[in-house]
Amino acid sequence: MLSKERNEELTRVGPGTPMGALMRRYWHPIAASSEVSEKVPTKPVRLLGEDLVLYRDRSGGLGLIGPRCAHRNAEMRYAVPEPNGLRCCYHGWLYDQTGLCIEQPGEPRPFRNEVRIPAYPVREVGGLVFAYLGPAPAPELPMWDVLTWPNVTRKVTASILPCNWLQCMENSLDPVHFEWLHRYYGTYEIVRHKPDSSLDEWDHQTAERGKHHVKLGFELTDYGIIKRRLLEGETERDDHWRLGHPILFPNVLRVGQYDWHGLHYRVPVDDTTTLHIMLDVELPPHGSQVTSNAPVPVKYWPVHDEKGELIQVFDGPWEPYHVVAQDQVAWIAQGPISDRTVEKLGATDAGIVYYRKLLKEQIDLVAAGGEPMNVHREPKDCITLAIESARYPSDGEGERGAMFKDVVARTDYEVSLV
Ligand code: FES
Ligand SMILES: [Fe+2]
Repeated sequence: MLSKERNEELTRVGPGTPMGALMRRYWHPIAASSEVSEKVPTKPVRLLGEDLVLYRDRSGGLGLIGPRCAHRNAEMRYAVPEPNGLRCCYHGWLYDQTGLCIEQPGEPRPFRNEVRIPAYPVREVGGLVFAYLGPAPAPELPMWDVLTWPNVTRKVTASILPCNWLQCMENSLDPVHFEWLHRYYGTYEIVRHKPDSSLDEWDHQTAERGKHHVKLGFELTDYGIIKRRLLEGETERDDHWRLGHPILFPNVLRVGQYDWHGLHYRVPVDDTTTLHIMLDVELPPHGSQVTSNAPVPVKYWPVHDEKGELIQVFDGPWEPYHVVAQDQVAWIAQGPISDRTVEKLGATDAGIVYYRKLLKEQIDLVAAGGEPMNVHREPKDCITLAIESARYPSDGEGERGAMFKDVVARTDYEVSLV
């Protein structure tokens, strides 16, 4: 349970808020690269409570600027891309990537040096566009393995969720929900919507992580938290415990299984809206090459069906998306901002308490003028993260995570559930 004040402090992300100040120290994905192109050069975006316009100029570069022209407020989403910026549709004022007005074509005595609109740095990697809204100098964009691996097939899937970002992240620190939300409720919903053989397949897929949890462990690392689960019948040498699952501070879940790896970003659009943007990669069979170099495809999933009900079962053929649908139901069902003043936490919520404490420490660190964790100042080509149950590009046929075979689990916090 949290006080009303602490709940507000941990959830509100607009300009001037403590959590907003922390979130502004990180790069956040705002779109897929393929969403801005020669034919569709602008996209209105909202990030951390700020309205902006993302655009691709005629040189192929990206810019992220304020939503309205400084002249007489025309929306910059209706504008013409030029080789060096974006030109307002109304009287042709041209802005560069820094937000500076560089042309006022109708003015006999231009005063462009006095005219500027907001602008933020953007970077493009792995099929995603990232923005940084914090103080200069911008840190390095961390090159997580999923973003940079060559010879993989990438896709982006996104949803706009009508709930606060923290609900999504608390779910990632809550291993026990797998038993119920994904195995029990998930099976129930699949049977209810599709009374056919998918039940056996679903049960097979979720049986492993859906077993009863007997111990939870959490390790604090430079980049976030590794969550570990000890399941009934397993030992601490099993990968669920030994390798666990990384959470990248403050708002990203690293996922993976078999030949699939992913980064799931829970991007705060504003206090009550979250852009859930998933970059998933698939490894080709061992020893083979991916041939297509087509742009990374993007698909936005609706959250509600035609009756206005939350979508509980995705139609897609891919099992992990069922898991995401079930998670989305839980996140949204907690309300626009979950009222944590009335919750009743138990032993199974140990990870949530641990994560909230870490968030508060990092908020206070930023407020005191410090640099929070997982802000990168040195460029790195590829940051590889260990995750349970997944094959890596360096693995041979039939191997999973060979480079992590000697890793020994460490925990900073454990809780027994027996
Ligand atoms: S409103 Fe943009 S140039 Fe006039
Ligand atoms: Fe889940």
